[in-house]
Amino acid sequence: MVNNQNQPAVETHQLVKKFGSFAAVDNLNLRIEFGETYGMLGPNGSGKTTTIKILCGLLKITDGEAFVLGKKAGAPSIAPRIGYMPQETALYLDLTVHDNLRLFGEIYGMSKVDIEREEANLLRFIDLEEWRNAPISTLSGGMRHRVSLACSMLHNPELLFLDEPTVGVDPELRASFWDYFEALRKRGVTVIITTHYMDEAHHCSKVGLLRQGQLIAEGTPEEITKSAGATSLEDAFLTLARRGE
Ligand SMILES: Nc1ncnc2c1ncn2[C@@H]1O[C@H](COP(=O)(O)OP(=O)(O)O)[C@@H](O)[C@H]1O
Ligand SMILES: [Mg+2]
Repeated sequence: MVNNQNQPAVETHQLVKKFGSFAAVDNLNLRIEFGETYGMLGPNGSGKTTTIKILCGLLKITDGEAFVLGKKAGAPSIAPRIGYMPQETALYLDLTVHDNLRLFGEIYGMSKVDIEREEANLLRFIDLEEWRNAPISTLSGGMRHRVSLACSMLHNPELLFLDEPTVGVDPELRASFWDYFEALRKRGVTVIITTHYMDEAHHCSKVGLLRQGQLIAEGTPEEITKSAGATSLEDAFLTLARRGE
């Protein structure tokens, strides 16, 4: 894995993204180290998706800077090294699960053998082996979500952006998703994951709390909870949000 000394996986300086005059991301300074399972937490509309899209090179920056794997966000050379699961699943509805996975693999230049191997592993993981040849249009929302997750990981990226991967996923599968993210972390994969479920934060090695496009707290879940004098992360968030008003 390429990892220059002291170079973080993700770094932003005074990052701003405006839609019209509204700042969805407002002078955001992030530094996410390699190997971290970083939870970007915040209520709906706090700028999580906008930030992830900028880091994946899908949105233009209004002001400031964003670096991913040591390069400017959006640099073509980093695309094969990152995976992105969008909040809104982007699958071909008329194609089968297998064809969607194959297509993603081909986009990333994977060989047929590699695609087949990774596909088999991932279908087992998302528990959709029996649905391999079913068109996406016949799958439930939760199942589509699982396919979307598999598509983002097929090419074994070293940095994975997951935008609300556990929404609409039943509790049992949610738990197995987190087990898998933990396994990815052990393999050295950096995972940046957004969620508005505060109870998921304890799975993360580090958490950043976003509010109105700004980082209002960062640290391990325990550190944040303690610094706010709260008993849960949810309470800590409310305390910290009130302090910022
Ligand atoms: N394309 C857009 N045009 C205008 N406003 C947008 C656009 N995308 C996001 N926003 C606004 O930016 C804010 C942050 O949105 P988003 O990044 O999706 O938040 P989150 O993912 O935390 O729910 C919201 O107020 C949203 O309405
Ligand atoms: Mg979002």
